[in-house]
Amino acid sequence: MDTIIRDLHRHVGHPVTIKGWLYNRTDKGKLVFMQVRDGSGICQAVVFKRDVDEATFETALRLPQESSLIITGEVRADPRAPGVPSGFEIGVRSLQVVQRAEEYPITPKEHGVDFLMDHRHLWIRSTRQWALLRVRATVMRAIRQWLDSNGYVEMSTPILTPSAAEGTTNLFEVGYFDQKAYLAQTGQLYNEANIFAFGKVYCFGPTFRAEKSKTRRHLTEFWMVEPEIAYCDLEHLLEIEEQMVSYIVHTVLTENQNELKVLGRDRSKLEHITPPFPRITYDEAIAKIKELQAQTDDEEQKQLLDITWGMDFGSPHETALTQLYDKPLFVTGFPSAVKAFYMEPYPDRPEVCKSADLLAPEGYGEIIGGSERISDPELLLKRIRDQGLPEEAYRWYIDLRKFGSVPHSGFGLGVERTVTWICGTEHIREAIPFPRTIYRLYP
Ligand code: 4AD
Ligand code: MG
Repeated sequence: MDTIIRDLHRHVGHPVTIKGWLYNRTDKGKLVFMQVRDGSGICQAVVFKRDVDEATFETALRLPQESSLIITGEVRADPRAPGVPSGFEIGVRSLQVVQRAEEYPITPKEHGVDFLMDHRHLWIRSTRQWALLRVRATVMRAIRQWLDSNGYVEMSTPILTPSAAEGTTNLFEVGYFDQKAYLAQTGQLYNEANIFAFGKVYCFGPTFRAEKSKTRRHLTEFWMVEPEIAYCDLEHLLEIEEQMVSYIVHTVLTENQNELKVLGRDRSKLEHITPPFPRITYDEAIAKIKELQAQTDDEEQKQLLDITWGMDFGSPHETALTQLYDKPLFVTGFPSAVKAFYMEPYPDRPEVCKSADLLAPEGYGEIIGGSERISDPELLLKRIRDQGLPEEAYRWYIDLRKFGSVPHSGFGLGVERTVTWICGTEHIREAIPFPRTIYRLYP
């Protein structure tokens, strides 16, 4: 049976066959050192002139980067051997070239971001990208594991939708026969129907926002998981969020040790991420931001931090706030005017709503948006009218409040924002295989 590089430690002293690609190559006298990758890892494969026939040695000496190959040889443990995981190498006995690659455009020299993005279909083979996308897969698996083992039922919600849910300014419109449809900004409204049938549900899929801003945090197509829970208030919701996020982080710490090493991620920034997470109100957050603004001598930063009560946070505000904490931070009770129409207002103070954003530490900012939902049909209708939304399109949604309405809550966690934070990387575009942004639809 074929062996994978990740499992080499189990085969020390034994012959193995590896099917992969040539990542890099150097030679020294009678030795060719090939870095071979197979998707599961990278290992050094040493071709010693004495161990192979002449043709094989010549082939190894000249094989171009990214050629596909099958090698057979004995596994040796050697602490000096580079690789992912390091410490193992293969003494090559036979080498079969499956395809000699053409000259590969991505070389170890520095390339600009646009060049790399134009070659994203090849760039994903690079070790750093490989590590990021493997962490992404773990994050997605951990999300499902946590929800499935805690009694949530997965529901598929539509991507073609007749109406907006998260504001009307960033909708992607598509022709739908003789009507208009919009790509889903969220599956939440449908999940609010699903809870009355299943109690606790989630949807997990691609989400679309025509974001015209060019930031490190925005994609036009991103993946979001959205749990929704019947008979759940905001306090209970925050407990669910902090448990799920902690589970995701610790699953990555356990299962992606090699990948985090490749990324140079400081594990100590993640190891203490356990419940409870700190909680502050929007009012307290505004006071803290004003305090930070007063303290800084940097004029530009002073301007960026400018805020008055009633404004939504921008990236500089989130960044500044999260640098005060070493765990994700809940900010609750945002002004109703800056949040979506469906959020339940506080009865004694209707200008703020039972909402919570979860901001990741180290300046990463919002990874979750969530709230308690309006359960009264009259109030919901009023909010829809106040926001100038087409009433007819929400008839079914208002209906939900007429047949056994209950307090209920839910949240949405953005996969790419979460991966960016956990990996400690700069830009969200590396946290998804083929990113879509205002400037990028190719490849
Ligand atoms: O805060 P948002 O807009 O909330 C909702 O869509 C709710 N319907 C969720 C719910 O309660 N079921 O988005 C939720 C999360 C954000 O916190 C962020 O992580 C991510 O989705 N997100 C984006 N990620 C990448 N690019 C974008 N343009 C994003 N917009 C939101
Ligand atoms: Mg939000």
